[in-house]
Formats: sequence, structure tokens, C-alpha cells
Amino acid sequence: MKILLERQSSKPIYLQIRDRISRLIKSGALQSGDRLPSIRCLAESLQVNKLTIIEAYNVLEADGVVCARQGAGYFVNSASVPSANLKSTFAPAQNVIIPKQGGSSFFDMCTAAVHAQSQPGMINLSIGFPHPPKDIDLIARRALRQTPDTLFQYDLPQGQLTLRRQIAQMLIQQGMEVSADNLIITNGSEQGLSLILQYHIQPGDWVIVESPTYFGAIAILEKLKAKIIGIPMTAEGMNLELLEQYLKSHHPKLIYTISTLHNPTGITTTQAHRQELLRLAEKYECPILEDNAYEGLCFEMVPPPIKAFDKQDLVTYVNTFSKTLMPGLRVGYMVVTGKHYQDILEQKLLYDFHTSTVSQAIVSEYLASGHLRRHLKQMRAELLQSRNLMLQALECYFPEEARWTVPNGGLFLWVQLPENLPTKTIRIEALSQNVLLACGSAFFPDKQGYPAMRLSYCLTPEEIEKGISILGKLLKKHLYKGCERISNNHQTLVHSI
Ligand SMILES: Cc1ncc(COP(=O)(O)O)c(C=O)c1O
Repeated sequence: MKILLERQSSKPIYLQIRDRISRLIKSGALQSGDRLPSIRCLAESLQVNKLTIIEAYNVLEADGVVCARQGAGYFVNSASVPSANLKSTFAPAQNVIIPKQGGSSFFDMCTAAVHAQSQPGMINLSIGFPHPPKDIDLIARRALRQTPDTLFQYDLPQGQLTLRRQIAQMLIQQGMEVSADNLIITNGSEQGLSLILQYHIQPGDWVIVESPTYFGAIAILEKLKAKIIGIPMTAEGMNLELLEQYLKSHHPKLIYTISTLHNPTGITTTQAHRQELLRLAEKYECPILEDNAYEGLCFEMVPPPIKAFDKQDLVTYVNTFSKTLMPGLRVGYMVVTGKHYQDILEQKLLYDFHTSTVSQAIVSEYLASGHLRRHLKQMRAELLQSRNLMLQALECYFPEEARWTVPNGGLFLWVQLPENLPTKTIRIEALSQNVLLACGSAFFPDKQGYPAMRLSYCLTPEEIEKGISILGKLLKKHLYKGCERISNNHQTLVHSI
């Protein structure tokens, strides 16, 4: 935990400490049951008198925010952290976006992120590259040994039966009624998106997306010359009232949605939201493409995907092993039901015959051996810690005006910034200090939207700390240009615990 004190402020130090800890609790960075630093430790690290800390803790206790336990210290009071407090303060005011023309930066974004990954010293906050599992050598060798005769031959376009059966089992546990016959293994989920969008969309068709949304899907839609309608994302998911208005007025051919751990905001919708979205799609006979690439990285139980409620073959569900295992394997899959299956399968055959048999066998071995389950358990625990560290760093270094989401899993969160902040300039300045970030504009259909950035926390604690502190300084520099407010003389950055 770090606490920034303004020693020359007229506000007493104990109240500054009280306010800072209250904010950490409200934002979810400190959670119910967490122990506060000991009085001695905090006093030493902040270089204040122990009485100041006691006073701050007493006020927090009087506020009902923390409670003292005899001999054990002070703890965040569970009653003081209603779950609403763990929710983000993210509440953008945003209109529907209908871009005049495309301007995709997908190619530039992807290549810049991959290059940044191999640059020593670069803190890559722009993209989530999951750490590969440690046992890949062992699993890959085992996979190659087990099916050598079929592994190096051509295969069926839908992919290997064993893997499809294993995936169907996983999906049944998520609440979907599927069998291996409803599955097509794809070359990553990007190929699944391409196949489904090509299947449903003709040039000039209207398509609904969330705004912001995953730029890889926007790029495909631009290539297909679709006309995009960006419906604003609220803290609860896509604004359904606006969605209905545009379903009625524009008769779109598809709704593209990320219902779990939305990219870029990290938001997961409730079951009620999912069912209402499906009800609207049914009412206006509009297919849904549900892309839940990060679903395997949820910290807690989430509602079943929209596909689980679909009785009319209106929803196609796309997912991937890129985020849970390795993007380099290029193994994704989609659930396609009803009459659409055969057409899409034939299209897949024309693309690339089938997904690499070797990659499929490796994924299959991960599933069969239980290694994936263990790997995910560890990965989620690490990501939860990293997310909390990033929340603390944001509280410490970012300007008070910034708001961010508190994702319940996945690799990144979304920061909404004050109007008029030049995020592209800040990106360039950050890059000169070896910090790469993803500007929010890339995720909006018109490549503008409101000022925002997506930050990956799939990094080491040191990288998170350093990256966020560099960004925080840059943001404050632009925000308080001409103000005395961030004069370094007035601030003491204190490390504690
Ligand atoms: C929401 C979403 N969908 C799909 C993809 C594509 O992933 P892949 O093709 O590696 O499976 C990504 C990649 O970042 C993503 O964020």
C-alpha cells in the first residue's frame, strides 16, 4: 500500500490518511477482512507520529469502515463494504456512434504489441499476453506420442472428435446444452469471428456492436463494408433501451457482444441482462455473435453464456484457448447450432482445411490430464493479485478525476479519463519512457469515443507499479497544466508495508 501525503495542505495529515484508506476500500483495492498496516509500520513508512495513525484509524473505526481486533490490529469491516462498493465508478456519458468511414488501426496495434513484447525493459500495458504454462514441453511430447499416425495427416474441418467432446463437456458445465456435433474448432477465435461475420453480413448491412468493443471485430466489419452502430456500454453492459431503438429503426443483421469479461471494459453482464438481450434479438429476429474469449479467467462464478438460453439457433458462441493456454497454438472454437452449421463448416474448409492437428492434440492433452484446470486455478489467483495491485497503484498515482472498472477476472481494466486529455500524446510520451498502453480510441467504432485507456495487469508487481506511476505523472502533467497543484515539493511519496 502506498499513501501520497500533501504535507503543505491545510487538511490535517490524519484526515488525509483516513480519506486515502477510505478510497482504497471504496474502489475495491482493499477488501472486506483485509488487515490494515500496523500502526508502527505505517507511522514509520509515512514518517509521521504513531498518534497520527491512531487518530486516522480511530476516525475510520468511528466511520464504521474498519474494526479493531484485540491484539491483531485493524481490519476492513465487512459491513462497511457492501458489494456495490466493489463495483467500479465507471459511468460514461456517451452517445450512439455511427462512424462515417473506417480507419482501423488493428494491424498497427497488433504488430506494435508483439514487437513491444520482445523489447527488453518495455512495460507492455497495452495487451494481455498470458504466461505460458510451465509444463508445455512435457504435455506437447505426451500429445505427440499418443496419436502419431493421425497427427500429421489431413483432418476433418470441424476438428478432432476427442477435443470437441472435451470442449462440449466444459460447456455443459457452463450451462450450455451442446454436443461435439455443434462444435467447430477454429484457428483462434479471430477466425471464428471472421467466419460468422462473413456468413451473416453483406456490404452495407447494419451491425450492432458495443461501444467500446474489441477492435479485432471492428476491423473485420470494416473489411466487410458493414455499417456499424456502436451502442454505449454502461457499467451493466450494452444499453438495452438504445439497442431496442436501433433494432427497430435500422433492422441490423447482427449483434456482436462480449457478455463475460468484455474487452476492453472487463464488464460481465448479469443473467437478467443476457436474457433481455436475447429477448430483443428474438423479437427483432437479429442473430447474436457472442465472443467470450476471457470467460475461462473469471475469479467467481458467472451466469451461463447467452447461447445457453438460445432456443431458436439465433446465437453463435465463440471462444478460444489463447487467453487460458497460449495464443501461439491458435486453437479456438465455436458453437453453431441448427441449419447454419453445415454452411459455416464448408466455409471453414475453404479457409484452411482445418486447424493444426498438432495444436489440437496439445490442447486435448491439457484437458485430459487435468493440467489446464490446475494451470487456470493458479493463473486466476495470480491475476486477482495483479488486479488488486493495479487498483492500488491507480488509487495512488492516477488523478482523482479518473474512473476505472473493477473487472471480475481477465487481463485488463478500463480507465475513463477527463474530457480533453490528449491520450494519443500521452501514449507517445509514455512510449519514450518504455511504457506501452492501448489508447481507448482504438476500441470505438469511430476511433475516437471518450478519452480512455485499456490497461493490462498481466505483469509483474514491479512493472505494474512503475508503469502506472509513469502514466499517472503524465496524466497529471496534462490535466493540471499551469496549476501549482502537483508541484513535487508539496508531495511526498511514501512507501509503506
Ligand atoms: C474479445 C476477443 N475476441 C477474440 C480475440 C482473438 O483471439 P484469438 O484469435 O487469439 O483466439 C481476442 C484477442 O485478443 C479478443 O480480445
